Parts: sequence; structure tokens; C-alpha cells
Amino acid sequence: MQRLALCAGIASGTLSCIYEKGLNAMQVKPMAAPMGAVVSGVDIRSTDADRWQEYNTLLCEHHVLVFPDQQLSNDDHIAFASLWGDLIPFPYGSLPGYPNIIALKNKGKRKDVNQHWHSDMTYNVQPPKLTMLYALEAPAIGGETAFANQHMAYEELSDGMKQVVDSLQAHHSAQALARLYGEDEAKASRALHPVVRRHDESESKALYVCQAFTRRFEGWTREESKWLLEYLYKHCVREEFQARHQWRVGDLVIWDNRSVLHYAVHDHGDDPRLIHRCQVEGVQPRGASD
Ligand SMILES: [Fe+2]
Repeated sequence: MQRLALCAGIASGTLSCIYEKGLNAMQVKPMAAPMGAVVSGVDIRSTDADRWQEYNTLLCEHHVLVFPDQQLSNDDHIAFASLWGDLIPFPYGSLPGYPNIIALKNKGKRKDVNQHWHSDMTYNVQPPKLTMLYALEAPAIGGETAFANQHMAYEELSDGMKQVVDSLQAHHSAQALARLYGEDEAKASRALHPVVRRHDESESKALYVCQAFTRRFEGWTREESKWLLEYLYKHCVREEFQARHQWRVGDLVIWDNRSVLHYAVHDHGDDPRLIHRCQVEGVQPRGASD
């Protein structure tokens, strides 16, 4: 096995990484300044244990990975996602015969429920660590997914504010979603999570609140929580923490829900956009001092 790695300058985006492994040459280029990497020249259907380790290291470092030009069946998608852990079945709306894949299809802007900043399913005690999307149809322009780097958002806080948020926990709830789907709000999932989450692999700290699901701080009323949450919601998606991905057919994109918030931008009208989604189980988030 021959391997050549040219990685100098990747942080500055001046030089891509090139790995050679047999005939399978992998190139890694930064996606944007705040986060993300585009991994090209690979067929992810032939991922072995060594290559998966490289991908996981890249994911922990860059938080979002884009693999362009893939040709995946549903089984291929499942097999690749399963390298990271157990998949989460969707209670409704999954593909026939594939309980771990849900199709995200453009039904028009008014019916799009993903137009808000969030980390996936934080209302669960063990939220999914990764979300993996595969594009089957994409608009020529628009319909991007936006990301915000929550490690950067945490690091940019003052020492005083870090001390405050390090010690807080927040209640998350799927109430708003239940209301949207006409379900019983009283039965909506709920969870208590640290406001600052320590990544269970990289150990880096990240802010872990989102406007979609966070309700209030533990021990604080909703009214008392509101002022600080409003500040954090604004801060955590500052432009310099953001990147956006323009989808192309064949893109497989992984993002790390422990590290980023995301937002599905609906600016493509009724143009077709069809994306298959899988989610990988995560652990219960631990706090800054755990
Ligand atoms: Fe989402």
C-alpha cells in the first residue's frame, strides 16, 4: 500500500491534501474558512477500516464533509452511514423497506419545516451525533444548507460569559414540532442538556443551544432564560462562523451535530430537490467540566 500525504497549508486553503492508496487518490480541500472539507476522488462504497478512520479524523477536525460524485443505492447509503454507528429509524415518513432513510422532497417553501437553525433532535436524551444526506435531485441554484461552527461560537465568548454558560443546563423540547404536525404536545420528547457540550471524541467545547428546541435553563424561568438565550441565538450564528453548501446530484454530505448548527435555506421556489437522510446514534451529551 503506497500513501502520499501533502497537507501543508490546508488550514489556509492554499494546498489540498492528496492521499494515494492504490489507484484510489483522495483529495481534501477546505470548504470554507470556518469549517468543512470537500473529499473528492473517492468512491465511498469501497471504504475500508483504515479509510474510515481517516474520514472520521477529518470529520472531527472539519465538522462537515462533502463527498461529491457518488453513486449510491439505498443499501450503499445505509452501509456507509453504519460505519459510524447504529442508525436511528424514523417513526414515520421513511422509505418503504428502509426505516433508516427518510426522503426530503421539495413540497414548496410554506411546507418546509427545516427553515430554522438547529442541531438535529436535541429534544432526545441521546441526540444523533451525525446526519448524512445524499442528493438525488438538486436545484441549479439555491436550496443550500447553511452551517454554523459552534466550537468557534463558544471560543469567541468572553471568559466571563464562558464561566456562566459552562455551568448551565438547558431544557430542550419537541413541543413546537408536535404542534406543527398536529400531534399531542404533552407527549413531545424532552431532554436536559449542558449548554456547553464537550465533544466525546475531540474533547473540544461547543455551544449547544438552538432556537428551534431549547426552552429555558435549568433552575431559571422561561422569562429569565429569554434574555440570555436570545443573545446566544444571535451570537452562535454570526456570519464568521457560517458556511453554506450548494447541493449537486451525487453529493453525500456528513455533518457533526455535536459541532454545528444547520439551516435548510429555501430560496429555490418549487425547483425539484430530493435528498435522502440517515442519522447515526450519539451518546448523551456531557458538559464542559464532565
Ligand atoms: Fe435538521
